[in-house]
Amino acid sequence: MYNARSISKFSLKGKQMTDHATLVSQNKEYTFTSWTSQNAWNPISITHGEGVYFWDADGKRYLDWSSQLFNLNIGHGHPHVIRAIQEQAGKLQYAMPSLATEPRARLGQMLRDVTPAGLTKAFFTTGGADAIENAMKFARLSTGKQKILTRYRAYHGATFGAMTAGGDPRRLANEPGVPWIVRMPDPYSYRHPVYRGRTEAEGDQAIVDMMEEIIHFEGPNNIAALMLEGFSGTSGIMQGGETYWRGVEYLREKYGFLLIIDEVLSGFGRTGEWFGIDHYPWVKPDLMAMAKGLTSGYIPLGGVMMTEKVAHHFDDNVFYGGLTYSDHPIACAAGVANLEVYQNEKLIENSHELGKKLRAGLVDLAEKYEAIGEIRGAGLHYVIELVKNRDTREPLSPYNSAMTEPMKKLAANLREQGMSTFVKWNLVFCAPPLVATEAHIQDGLNILDRAIKDLG
Ligand SMILES: Cc1ncc(COP(=O)(O)O)c(C=O)c1O
Repeated sequence: MYNARSISKFSLKGKQMTDHATLVSQNKEYTFTSWTSQNAWNPISITHGEGVYFWDADGKRYLDWSSQLFNLNIGHGHPHVIRAIQEQAGKLQYAMPSLATEPRARLGQMLRDVTPAGLTKAFFTTGGADAIENAMKFARLSTGKQKILTRYRAYHGATFGAMTAGGDPRRLANEPGVPWIVRMPDPYSYRHPVYRGRTEAEGDQAIVDMMEEIIHFEGPNNIAALMLEGFSGTSGIMQGGETYWRGVEYLREKYGFLLIIDEVLSGFGRTGEWFGIDHYPWVKPDLMAMAKGLTSGYIPLGGVMMTEKVAHHFDDNVFYGGLTYSDHPIACAAGVANLEVYQNEKLIENSHELGKKLRAGLVDLAEKYEAIGEIRGAGLHYVIELVKNRDTREPLSPYNSAMTEPMKKLAANLREQGMSTFVKWNLVFCAPPLVATEAHIQDGLNILDRAIKDLG
């Protein structure tokens, strides 16, 4: 029987490390961390979790308000997935990708059933970024064209090509990156100048018109694909409305490029639908990248779903791609078990319903506090954008800079109150596991309420 507490202590070279301070100092001394300077790294420790909670090495409980990195959709410690991993590990631990295995076939079949109509074949990777690299490769090889259109305010991963594709500042470490990415303006009605004096729908249309103009400038015959997050994620959930997404489908049809939808973050119920793009049933993806919620992070796995048409190109052409750990049988078994959990426990429906409660609670907070400039999202996927002044919309902490006061104080307050979440610039993300209940959502809202109130 799985006992989360039994794994709460571990030894390194025989030395027990049980307290938080020791764990942090040894992690800092012996390991290198990502996306922050080493000196600024001040992590929460984590020893075990259960559902929407996890515990640090001193026994402090945290509400996991970001599902770790927007991936732990089924929550911590789910016995069904743990059992599936254990059973698969007992049977077949590894198979090179050129061999056929049962969990790989089963997961491919299940994904065909839950992804949008027309996506029929899965290519499995080891995570999100290599799903994106391969999706772009599929598009470029199958069309024989070079360019991929993406957005400025998007993130697609940290490998070389994926990092160029994501237009948000995380790409800047890697400039100029690959030469075949072209970035598009964003449907960010709260801040993009094109929305000034326009309704949201009019602004969305103006963005689509600008995209069309860029397509002309770049040469429609050179464009392999347009790549968009199915639902905008860590760049700040700037999603656009129906006009924008009708425009996307209009451009795809008119110019004949492929559409790559990145569901790495927004897939598997995060936004209250199976996939973010399911909010726009008229949009027809040719390729879909996924990871995160595919296994809820229990084992690394990503994938690319593709249409018959894309797959057909490779019937007689070699696809140059694949890694040693592609199609990993334990990861595929974890994926199968995850999909069973989504289905058996109706987690997509829960995200949809609970999302209404989350939205209502955030709207209440926005009515109470001037510091909330805007809330955006769907399902269990929201962001609060904080401002110094509602009229000027000056951000509470500047764009693309280390957090300044009072945003820093807010982040520290959330942590102090036992909430772990993703906070950057002037944004606080709200993305709890899909196994959350109304009581958990209310707990989270209460913590946010107190922290925003304390801003004074
Ligand atoms: C939308 C999106 N695409 C791709 C990725 C990259 O995934 P990974 O970190 O698994 O490589 C991320 C990661 O956050 C993401 O949010």
